[in-house]
Parts: sequence; C-alpha cells; structure tokens
Amino acid sequence: MHENTIQLTQTEFAKEIKEGLTAFPKYLSSKYFYDEKGDALFQKIMALPEYYLTNCEFEILSTYTKHLAELFSKDDSTFSLFELGAGDGKKTKILLKYLIDNNYNFDYRPIDISSNALSQLKSSINKEIPSVVVNPIQGTYFDTLKTIKDEQQNRKVILFLGSNIGNLLHKNAIAFLHQLRAAMHKKDLLLMGMDLKKNPQTVLDAYNDPTGVTAAFNKNILNRINSELGAKFDVEKFKHWEVYDPETGTAKSYLVSTCKQSIFIEELETVIEFEAWETIHTEISQKYDDQTVDWLAKASGFKVIADFCDSQSYFKNYIFQPL
Ligand code: AVJ
Repeated sequence: MHENTIQLTQTEFAKEIKEGLTAFPKYLSSKYFYDEKGDALFQKIMALPEYYLTNCEFEILSTYTKHLAELFSKDDSTFSLFELGAGDGKKTKILLKYLIDNNYNFDYRPIDISSNALSQLKSSINKEIPSVVVNPIQGTYFDTLKTIKDEQQNRKVILFLGSNIGNLLHKNAIAFLHQLRAAMHKKDLLLMGMDLKKNPQTVLDAYNDPTGVTAAFNKNILNRINSELGAKFDVEKFKHWEVYDPETGTAKSYLVSTCKQSIFIEELETVIEFEAWETIHTEISQKYDDQTVDWLAKASGFKVIADFCDSQSYFKNYIFQPL
C-alpha cells in the first residue's frame, strides 16, 4: 500500500493512538477504554466498595426524586428527558419509575454512539417500566443535540451523570458545556453529576482497588490496541499508577512501563519505544467544589440553580440552567 492510501484508511482511533504514543510525554484518551470488555470492567468498577461515586449518586437520585421531578416539570410542561451516555440506566431508572408512577408527561431519549448499548437499554426499560416512552438517539452528543434543537418543541432536561464530565480538563469541559448550551433553550435544564473534593486517600482508593479491576480497566486500552491495530503489548509489563492532587482536584491515571521495551504496531507500521519507567497518561478524573462548579457553569453560559448532595458529602448533582 502507498502511504497516501494508508493515511486515508486509518480510522480516527488509529490516528489518535499514533498521535498519543509518538508524543512526549505519551498519552492515550480514556474514551478508548470502552469497548465491550471495557464496558464490562467499568460495570465491575461501579460495584467495587472503594468506588463510592455510583452509590453516592444513586443515594442522591433516590432521596431527591420528588424535588428533581418538580424541577423537571416546572409549569406542568411536557418534557423530554435526554441522557448523555446512559450506560445500564441503573440510576436513571429511579427517576423514570417515579415519573411514571406520578403521571408526568415525558419521554426518555438516551443518546449514545453505540446502537447496541441503546437497544439493550431500551429493552431493559421496556421490561422493567413498560409505560416509559423510550426514543433512543444514535450518534455523538453534539450532532444529535444540534439536530434536535429546533425540531423539538418540548422542554429539554438533559442528564449528564456519573461525573463523566470529570474526564475533561476544565478548558475542554467548558468547550463541551458551551456546545451543550448552544443546543438548549432558556427553559431547558441540565442535571450534572459531579464528584467532589474529599479526603485525598478516599479518592486514591477509588482508583486503586486491591483486586486490580481498575488496573485491568486501564490496561484494557493496550489490549484494544493489540486486537484492533495488531500491536504486541504485554500488559504485564505495565503498571497501573494513580496520583491525586488535592489542590487542583485532578486525579490522573497512568500506565508505567516497567522496563525498556519496543512495541511494534502493525496497522500503524510503527515501533513505539519505551524507556524503563516511561509513562502513558490515560485518564483524568476531576474532583470539584461549589466554587469551581459555579465558575464552570458561568464560563459556559449557565447558572447553577440547585444542588443535591449525598449524606457523606462525597458527590453532588447540580442543576444548570441557561443564563
Ligand atoms: C466514568 C469517567 C466517571 O473517572 O471515575 C473509573 C471512569 N476510571 N475508574 C471516573 C473510571 C477509573 C470514571 N468515569
């Protein structure tokens, strides 16, 4: 194959992997954790006792269901409940059950790139809460939100749960929220799940479980490069490493090469050289405080109109409204 042909047939995945592994220092995007195996590992993480985030948000949504439902349907309006990256919908189902039991007028519109994830979610909701009208939207967050902005007459309530926003550095989070804002009308709402600053040991433990599930999740990106790009990473030769800066609230995950090694990646026709103890930065999991959240909201065209906290003050759900 000619070089041009290779360039053209390279997927976005291949391109980004090459960029990250040939940069210094090396990095890979955490969005690539989530293939089928990665999804399953993340499900396991959510069940770990150390990974407090899921239980905290579950507690908040269970405790404040009525408050939330009332905010969503202000002026008795019909609304559409959108969700960015719904996953298995475990937390959302609390809201859906309540809304159905109390005769709210709404439909549920989960957005995901994976049509497989969407159809699984739809059928599990149809089974558990058959009265919910589920209208899945397959596509990237932005494309779909832009398309529906003007078609959609109902008030929009957008869920962005699980501290997924935390994968973005503040600058990127603002850009993301700003684009969301552009797809919303003044009366629409955004419900954000955001993990809070807390005892730094508690944060570190959440990303360092003794059973190694998080390490396997982090290393899964190397397995994925092996299977999709024909690489020969030996994941045993990389160490999962987590750091947390209590000042900035940024938790960072790394894969550290335990020895000097060369990795051939067939699809990229490239050899990647690692020095002993060289790092690949794979994920950030940002932790927040009220001041930072207010700043992020304002900087992206929103104001915070309400917040709900769990009993340990570990996690908050914030309601953002367009300014
Ligand atoms: C799904 C991005 C919220 O950062 O806490 C869990 C992913 N990474 N353990 C997080 C994750 C390691 C998770 N988010």
